[in-house]
Amino acid sequence: MIITCPINKQRLWNTLMELGNIGLTSSNKAEGLTRLSLSKEDLAARSYLIKLMEEAGLEVRVDPIGNIFGKLNGSKKTAPVVLSGSHIDTVHQGGMFDGALGVLGAIEAVRTIKEAGINLTHTIEVVSFTDEEGTRFGTGYIGSKAMAGVLEEKIFTLEDDDGITYREAILNAGLDPLSYKEATRKKEEVKAYIEMHIEQGKVLEEHNMSVGIVTDIQGPIWLEVTLIGNPDHAGATPMHMRKDAALAMAEVLLEIETIATTYKGVGTVGKIKVEPGGVNIIPGKVSFSVDLRHVNKELRTEMVNKVFESLDRVSNRRRIHAHIDVKKDVDPASCSKEIVQLLEEVCSELSIPTKKIQCGAGHDSLIMANYTKMGMIFVRSKDGISHNPKEWTDLEDCAVGTQVLFETLVKLAK
Ligand code: GLV
Ligand code: MN
Ligand code: MN
Repeated sequence: MIITCPINKQRLWNTLMELGNIGLTSSNKAEGLTRLSLSKEDLAARSYLIKLMEEAGLEVRVDPIGNIFGKLNGSKKTAPVVLSGSHIDTVHQGGMFDGALGVLGAIEAVRTIKEAGINLTHTIEVVSFTDEEGTRFGTGYIGSKAMAGVLEEKIFTLEDDDGITYREAILNAGLDPLSYKEATRKKEEVKAYIEMHIEQGKVLEEHNMSVGIVTDIQGPIWLEVTLIGNPDHAGATPMHMRKDAALAMAEVLLEIETIATTYKGVGTVGKIKVEPGGVNIIPGKVSFSVDLRHVNKELRTEMVNKVFESLDRVSNRRRIHAHIDVKKDVDPASCSKEIVQLLEEVCSELSIPTKKIQCGAGHDSLIMANYTKMGMIFVRSKDGISHNPKEWTDLEDCAVGTQVLFETLVKLAK
């Protein structure tokens, strides 16, 4: 690797570890982080981030939906800004690197630019988008959607598991839900968006590479399905007289596995609630989430249709009522060919081995793809594990990814 202006990898690592200490699920570190969007843990992480940006000498701004921006001014105020970042909210019992690396890596890259006294024409803004994960309110990409002007007002009535609405959560964070449209920025204001993220898969590890260049990102559809049967006595109701919602769900779940496998996509049911929930009561109601993804939009639509057909068939045969709510529907996206080429050039100049790679997980980049030129740098994940406390990326790999990010931002902002 040929580097003339190295980022400070130990400083980057220290910030990853510091942020990784905020929102621990329990006193046992092995249980990971639970920093759901706008929770008190997330608010503490936001405060940490703002302080870090200020220490780095960035001009900090928080928009009405809670996106945090840290700005390094370029010489030409009217030139479109180069944006780079990710998110700092996590899933339940998540890891230290998902999202965090993209935000903290961008801060480190910009700090290095500042310290090296590199003159830029374009302003660079580091961004931490609000609620990428969607874990708390069942949707996600809220901050990037608001910035791109595609956030739907109906999200404010969504409730978390404790009955707190999105509106209340935003207010509690000291933000103003009524002003969310002010978070929208004109497309002309932004030149490009670069997101560095851990791979969350095993491809880079298999190829013994620190970084990859993303070409396409799978688009997720999230459904919330409710099946209503009849709660009844587990001992006194003969099998043929039951309307057991859990059995209907079990059939559908196995069909989802077959559908995802057949279409070479992915399908997951990660959240299930059975009611009334008694050992001796036939389940009268179940609700469950469905997450379906594919890089090809048409094939994903076919997968969704097959799941709908399955729900129809199974609930008719079992005399169950099915209700389906679409909670998220984001198209798959391709990265800008220009940025892919730029990232290839940067890696080649630095003599960093890399390869093009498809992305399985969802990112704010999916939203940014319809808004500006978007590109993603992937960094090797240990054993491909993510959304899990064991999520890990080595310091050296974080440093290589951040060096690539630094060089790319300099080229874009020159
Ligand atoms: C977020 O990490 C997602 O892919 O759901
Ligand atoms: Mn992420
Ligand atoms: Mn994630």
